[in-house]
Amino acid sequence: MNVGFVGLGAMGSGIVRRLLAAGHDVTGWNRTPAKADALVAEGMRRAGSPGDAAAESDVVFTMLTDARALEAVADELVDGLRSDSIWLDMSTIAPDQSRALAARVPAGASFLDAPVSGSLTTLAAGQLSIMVGGDRAVFERVEPLLLDIGPKVTYLGAQGNALLMKMAINLSLVVQGMSFCESVAMAENAGIPREAAVDAVLKSVIASPMLQYRGPMVLEGGRPETPFADAALQQKDQQLGLALGRELGAPLPFASLANEFLTVCRAAGLGDQEWIAVYDVFRRMGGAA
Ligand SMILES: NC(=O)c1ccc[n+]([C@@H]2O[C@H](COP(=O)([O-])OP(=O)(O)OC[C@H]3O[C@@H](n4cnc5c(N)ncnc54)[C@H](OP(=O)(O)O)[C@@H]3O)[C@@H](O)[C@H]2O)c1
Repeated sequence: MNVGFVGLGAMGSGIVRRLLAAGHDVTGWNRTPAKADALVAEGMRRAGSPGDAAAESDVVFTMLTDARALEAVADELVDGLRSDSIWLDMSTIAPDQSRALAARVPAGASFLDAPVSGSLTTLAAGQLSIMVGGDRAVFERVEPLLLDIGPKVTYLGAQGNALLMKMAINLSLVVQGMSFCESVAMAENAGIPREAAVDAVLKSVIASPMLQYRGPMVLEGGRPETPFADAALQQKDQQLGLALGRELGAPLPFASLANEFLTVCRAAGLGDQEWIAVYDVFRRMGGAA
């Protein structure tokens, strides 16, 4: 398959690297062209526009910030789709926003929602999880390609279902991260060194893959210079999930509280930091300077 790729940000460029490493021909486009330079040096062809990336490809991926970013490329991309092309969107957006994009795809072409769960570390280690919604036969055409990105590919049925599942997982992820913060902050208040507390948690039954890479970020100097997901980006997902919960009549008490702490995190000037920087908020609430 010839692959088109629109959105070469942190996740997009990591995914393109994995596709190139697996031997696929990739034609990529990014709004800020300089971000494509390194990938071009590694073998990616540069597309002149989102439409060109689609026109050159059997399947065109999008991996963009949000629905607004998708809107900015959608017209051109749709114009470039061929009658048998597949548009596979990996961005984290709401299921209804995704369905609205799918409705714009021309007859014969197909649309899949394929959000991912994981981080830059998970991606680079080849462990990214990909969830897919849409026509099963179309999914089966792209499944081998997705397995070249990460080994955990789950088909969830109708288009939009994968995004719904992604929202549900994300809500739980933030709740878990915050619960970790309050536990470690309590240990630190009791005089246990933070390093020892984090180490103990990561050797305990509650150590998840997410805590394994994000837990050490609460340590001195542990925060990545470029956040995997800053508090503002994470809150975008949290609020999409909460809105969906309200629409479905699903109770989300813990996720709602976690959302308020993401707001506090931003108010404390930590909005552009990895969201686990909320640890500082818990420390200050516990009396630390
Ligand atoms: N980071 C993670 O750990 C992670 C994990 C799972 C899912 N996700 C989801 O993956 C998606 C991408 O995240 P990321 O971490 O790769 O973000 P990122 O590094 O900020 O990349 C965002 C991409 O969107 C493009 N973009 C933004 N606004 C645009 C516009 N108006 N027109 C055209 N392009 C636009 C950016 O282009 P420029 O380069 O020109 O700015 C860039 O290519 C998000 O939906 C995020 O929620 C992220």
